[in-house]
Amino acid sequence: MTAAQVEDLVTDGELTWVEVCRLDDLAPERGAAALVGGDQVALVRLLDDRVLAVQQLDPFCGAYVMSRGIVGTRSVDGVDVPTVASPMYKQVFDLTTGRCLDAVGKEPVDLRTWPVRVVAGSVQVGVAAGSVAVGGAG
Ligand code: FES
Repeated sequence: MTAAQVEDLVTDGELTWVEVCRLDDLAPERGAAALVGGDQVALVRLLDDRVLAVQQLDPFCGAYVMSRGIVGTRSVDGVDVPTVASPMYKQVFDLTTGRCLDAVGKEPVDLRTWPVRVVAGSVQVGVAAGSVAVGGAG
């Protein structure tokens, strides 16, 4: 679990792609925290090398811990989706949409998600163009 650094920016239409780390820096089925455009993001590399990004803030406990969540899968309408469960109260979220699949008795709250692409081994998170100051988010 390393805090990735913003290294590079590539603007591509509506999105600015912020390079956060190398795919090799991420362990399969483990989360890692990154700061992207001022937002704390939890990155998760799946076994098939897809990388997904959700907000690092756990909306149920108010702490920035989602990268420490438990990665798994759950069947949604007959389709297996990758999930992350809050390390604190075990709420389960669809990593692809951020949707809360199990609020553990609470009112469901979804997670924000970000588009992620892997280009030549570089993991890039897409943010709205213009929302990131060149020079990175520190
Ligand atoms: S308060 Fe949420 S994980 Fe510690």
